[in-house]
Amino acid sequence: MQATIDALLDSIAEKDWGIVETCLPHEAVQGLKQDLLHKQAQGLFKQAGVGKAGEAQVLTQIRGDETLWWDEKVLTSSEQLYHDYINTLQTALNQAFFLGLREFECHYACYPAGAFYQKHLDSFRKSNSRLISCILYLNEDWQAEHGGQLRIYKPDNEAFEDVLPTAGKLVCMRSDTVWHEVLPATRTRYSVTGWLRRQEI
Ligand code: OGA
Ligand code: MN
Repeated sequence: MQATIDALLDSIAEKDWGIVETCLPHEAVQGLKQDLLHKQAQGLFKQAGVGKAGEAQVLTQIRGDETLWWDEKVLTSSEQLYHDYINTLQTALNQAFFLGLREFECHYACYPAGAFYQKHLDSFRKSNSRLISCILYLNEDWQAEHGGQLRIYKPDNEAFEDVLPTAGKLVCMRSDTVWHEVLPATRTRYSVTGWLRRQEI
């Protein structure tokens, strides 16, 4: 685990984002997908909004995913494993970059076929507490022809790299500098999207 986290830190130092190809055991990723589907079947997901909680608006022409926030007090065993992983990552990021990260918030996300999320930055205009975005994908057998790539722009804002949302892959990026978008897919696309935060200043 340390080697993949070290490689991620190097990549973040170099270009503000990076990938861990397989951050959790296969069973844990499958467990998260089961947990997601179970909660979705209970009708707990909501159409995602744009903007900070309380001021968020539903704008499906900007983002078309449905989300459900995790409740830290009642985590499933798979959710706990992911939390443990993120805790380790948080410590490593703090040691490498002195970020003062203290909290993690995350939600399940489900993009129905055809849904997308337009190019954006993750940090809110009025708040600078979200420092690192972490996206874990839950899609088995995902091929390029299914679409749904995470498109990550380079600092010139024109060139980009596309990342396939394959099961077990973790993408981490700086929330305030890395422009990105989610392309529409031909299948339902599942993920856990979260943010490591420092205390609001
Ligand atoms: C987001 C986001 C990317 C992805 O939820 O803010 O950009 O690949 N998600 O799901
Ligand atoms: Mn984003």
